[in-house]
Amino acid sequence: MERKLDLYVEEMKLHMEESEFFLESEKIIRPIMLEIDQINQKLSEECGRPVVEYMKWRIKTPESIVKKLYRKQRKPTFESAVKNINDMIGIRIICSFQDDVYKMTKEIRKIPEMKIKKVKDYIAHPKSSGYRSIHIIIELPYNEDQTIGLEIQVRSAAMNYWATLDHQLSYKHKLGDPKETEKIRKELKSYAMDIAEIDKKFLKLRKKIDKL
Ligand code: GTP
Ligand code: MG
Repeated sequence: MERKLDLYVEEMKLHMEESEFFLESEKIIRPIMLEIDQINQKLSEECGRPVVEYMKWRIKTPESIVKKLYRKQRKPTFESAVKNINDMIGIRIICSFQDDVYKMTKEIRKIPEMKIKKVKDYIAHPKSSGYRSIHIIIELPYNEDQTIGLEIQVRSAAMNYWATLDHQLSYKHKLGDPKETEKIRKELKSYAMDIAEIDKKFLKLRKKIDKL
């Protein structure tokens, strides 16, 4: 099984290199990053403080693509990846405060040339892990007859701090003692709730400071 997986990863890598996927994606993503930065500048000016702490983009790695296709029980080919994976390209936007997350989301949704497939509000409806973010799923024209999935994740700096550790745990869970892992997962979930509370308290306090 592992060997077969490695083989598919190798094929995926080759295809991505031959089709210059990285370069092509970069061409698509650059104007979008510019638009998002303009939104950031506009909102930051309006608010009188930086609204976005940082943002970055990435292309999904061949290994991560193949693993996801396996999980979704889809064919592990590039064609299938383009068709079945929402986040071949990913953008992450980290905001200071929770209201900034919603402000950014609202403005991004208005960008005219982007076809929005769906918006998932995991802040209003957290995942069972405790994860809280907004996901904007977009279909971008790729070839004449293909579209490619872009997922924009918007979250608070505090929630990003949490998500980073949670992400590390998700890479470990198959290796460790299951009881200990479950304990850690529960503890981590309780911290997600603590952070959500702190995010709310911070927002309230910032609004009080704004009024001074
Ligand atoms: P995958 O979960 O990626 O297979 O796709 P999906 O269709 O279930 O979408 P979902 O919105 O659940 O997740 C998409 C992405 O959000 C993931 O690839 C992660 O980057 C992020 N994400 C979702 N859930 C969690 C979580 O519980 N913890 C962390 N750290 N990140 C998460
Ligand atoms: Mg998921």
